[in-house]
Amino acid sequence: MSEGASRPLAVGISGSPRSPSRSKTLAELLLKGLAERGYETSLIDLAVLPADALLARAESAHVDDAIAAAGEARIVIAATPTYRALYTGLLKAFFDLMPQGHLRGKVCIGLQTGTAREHYLSPDYGLRPLFASLEGIPVAGIYATDDEFVDGAPSARVLEWVSELVGRAIALSGQASTQP
Ligand SMILES: Cc1cc2nc3c(=O)[nH]c(=O)nc-3n(C[C@H](O)[C@H](O)[C@H](O)COP(=O)(O)O)c2cc1C
Repeated sequence: MSEGASRPLAVGISGSPRSPSRSKTLAELLLKGLAERGYETSLIDLAVLPADALLARAESAHVDDAIAAAGEARIVIAATPTYRALYTGLLKAFFDLMPQGHLRGKVCIGLQTGTAREHYLSPDYGLRPLFASLEGIPVAGIYATDDEFVDGAPSARVLEWVSELVGRAIALSGQASTQP
């Protein structure tokens, strides 16, 4: 999962404990768009990583590799359902394992799904400070409600948001990578 010689890396982190997952689908779509624009991509599905290691009770090479991949990425995507008006505990556990400054200078994008429209600000009060606490650069992402999905597939409107986000992420990551 290391960054190629010429291609920048985008890493998606899926924080839903459930499968299939709407939020994970958004991460897959965003990574697909970035791959089409020349990025190397990797998706970390936290639901299949060992729980003991995620809770820092055991060692796991898989978890270590996942944390290392996030540290090598130029773009870090966190996809999560809304749980109790915030991101999931699974996602928090993984981010808690990252060393201080691990996301320094990286473009960080939140993709959040939820049943409640009222929780659309959750990425702003949840994911944004989560990224910033690790010195990442938070970028406006997507909050999509469950009624935007039919049989797990996102609506045309959500697909358009993802497509716009691909362009924004690439533009901002170019600027971020030239920062001292
Ligand atoms: C334990 C739990 C808590 C939830 N809490 C909220 C919530 O506070 N607000 C909300 O809008 N949706 C909430 N939901 C609904 C999920 O966020 C929503 O169905 C989401 O799209 C699921 O994403 P996934 O398919 O990626 O797992 C909750 C679901 C579960 C299982």
